[in-house]
Amino acid sequence: MAMTDLAMRVAWPAEGVARVPFVVYSDPEIFEREQSHIFRGPTWHFLGLEAQLPEAGSYVLADVGDTPVIVLRDAAGDIGALVNRCAHKGTQLLFVPEGKVKQLMCVYHNWCYDLGGRLTSVAFEKGVQGRGGMSPGFSKESHSLARLRVHRICGLIFGTFSDATPDFETYVGPELVANIRRVCGRPLRILGQYSQLLHSNWKLYIENVQDPYHASILHAFNSVMKLDRLTMEGGVVKGAKGWHHIAFSKMTTDRGDEIYGKGPMRSAEITAYGHGLRDPSLAEFWDDFGDGVSLTVQTIFPTFVLQQLRNSLAFRIVVPKTPTSSQLYWIAFGYADDDERKSALRLKQANYMGPAGLISMEDGMVGGLVQRGIGGDRDKCSVLELGGNDIEPIEGSRASESSVRGFWAGYRELMGL
Ligand code: FES
Ligand SMILES: [Fe+2]
Repeated sequence: MAMTDLAMRVAWPAEGVARVPFVVYSDPEIFEREQSHIFRGPTWHFLGLEAQLPEAGSYVLADVGDTPVIVLRDAAGDIGALVNRCAHKGTQLLFVPEGKVKQLMCVYHNWCYDLGGRLTSVAFEKGVQGRGGMSPGFSKESHSLARLRVHRICGLIFGTFSDATPDFETYVGPELVANIRRVCGRPLRILGQYSQLLHSNWKLYIENVQDPYHASILHAFNSVMKLDRLTMEGGVVKGAKGWHHIAFSKMTTDRGDEIYGKGPMRSAEITAYGHGLRDPSLAEFWDDFGDGVSLTVQTIFPTFVLQQLRNSLAFRIVVPKTPTSSQLYWIAFGYADDDERKSALRLKQANYMGPAGLISMEDGMVGGLVQRGIGGDRDKCSVLELGGNDIEPIEGSRASESSVRGFWAGYRELMGL
């Protein structure tokens, strides 16, 4: 196959997915190709939750890459996803993030669409006082809103633009479907939502989520409070083709003091200061799923994250904004049958996560540090060799970057790089 100009310019190193050329984190042409080859390509994207769409006309806005999308429940109760773009001149039809509408009415010239995206009326279609109006060949039937293919699982709504996308279960693989059913298999209750601007390319955030290596090092809170350490029983499970992953651990199995308690680990320094929790209720938790697994972090290529840290449950999605910035959205959730105590404890544990979370605040910052660090040398590469060079996980271990390499395998395949 002939190499494209872009593939020649990027020149992926011979080490394959054990290297990532820095140019992919800032190049405008790569950013554009990602939109067509990944975001509008054969991939599934998280769009929202059925719990956000209680009634006919309820909607929530989403972004699939740079394409704005309306996810809504139509008059018959079905859930659909439409491109949020008027067929006249392209105006965004809805701009309040969530709400309820009877129809979709464009503010610019009043073209109206029903909840299925069919164009129902055009202002001055027949002109005014017998003059003007649309050309005789104009047909409203030819100007419906573009639709995405939708898949629903356990109240989660995914969409895809491409007819070539495999069915959802084939796309993610059975182990990842099983974890969605494990965490989301009961009616969900949304506890809160927040969002943060990341000063980094979207892929730096997803690499961070797929990387269990950093979790007990960058996040000293994790290791000091023994929430997540690589010395706990745990591992990595791969999704279909290795593109998606789950990292999991069981905090009650930790045997890590000899590693985490000695320098040069940051956790050892902090422990030596005698830091601890004055309010132990932040550490109170129960076994939601009866399997002793206290942490699961799951990704679905390219940008979806399902998180369970003890009883702090959340969906995350990262949306590319520019080659060097992205927006991260969080939805914290529990279950409809949680009692008040459980809901309150989930909210308390939500302090682990989010833009200022005791654990996750460093994730928002560190991508920006990478983005700044790689600024001058677009021809250099990162090195991803922990746990080998390929995308196979190591049984029973998270001391590996295999899931990050798996992301890059999917990325290279779809991008032709
Ligand atoms: S752009 Fe929507 S009606 Fe003109
Ligand atoms: Fe992290």
